[in-house]
Amino acid sequence: MKGYAATANYTVKEDCIIDEATGWDVMSDWETPIMQLHADIVCANGGHILEFGFGMGISADLIQAHDIESHTIIEINDNIYDALVEWAKDKPNVIPVKGDWYDDIPTDKKYDGVFYDGFGDMLNKRYFPTRIMQHCKEGTILTWYNNFLQEQSQYDGDIKAIKKVHHIEQFEKTRKN
Ligand SMILES: C[S@@+](CC[C@H](N)C(=O)[O-])C[C@H]1O[C@@H](n2cnc3c(N)ncnc32)[C@H](O)[C@@H]1O
Repeated sequence: MKGYAATANYTVKEDCIIDEATGWDVMSDWETPIMQLHADIVCANGGHILEFGFGMGISADLIQAHDIESHTIIEINDNIYDALVEWAKDKPNVIPVKGDWYDDIPTDKKYDGVFYDGFGDMLNKRYFPTRIMQHCKEGTILTWYNNFLQEQSQYDGDIKAIKKVHHIEQFEKTRKN
């Protein structure tokens, strides 16, 4: 079963993506500084980067500014995927994947960094730490968008259980700065 975002009819504007059916702000350009943190964190190892959710392509652009080998992006929504394919045309290290991050992660490599920003994914969000394990190697960096203004992460217990996988979150990073 695919999540809600697979069939959502998003309105794409210059500065945001809105889901008028639910009233959700899917993505906005004010989030750029947050995306910058995620991009810097997820690319700290260089290598092969895996990103879930293309949205406005803000984080994708910021990841592309780093020296990385490959950049796999999984997007579930038809219209947003079309935008991803168009954006990727002049970017030879980008691998666009149409599908659900939960089911469709390419298995030909282990990743050096993974960024999860699949807003609208109500089904499988909770399984991110356990599902992503099989695509990680020692030292893989995981980072994910979250709205929790608290020290405790939604994934804290799970991530601590993944030994040898480096865990960084935006708010942790923000606190140190
Ligand atoms: C908040 S936007 C991503 C914003 C992006 N980081 C940026 O900087 O513009 C969330 C995206 O995740 C996609 N998405 C939602 N659920 C997904 C899933 N299960 N698998 C892949 N993509 C998903 C949505 O269609 C949407 O394009």
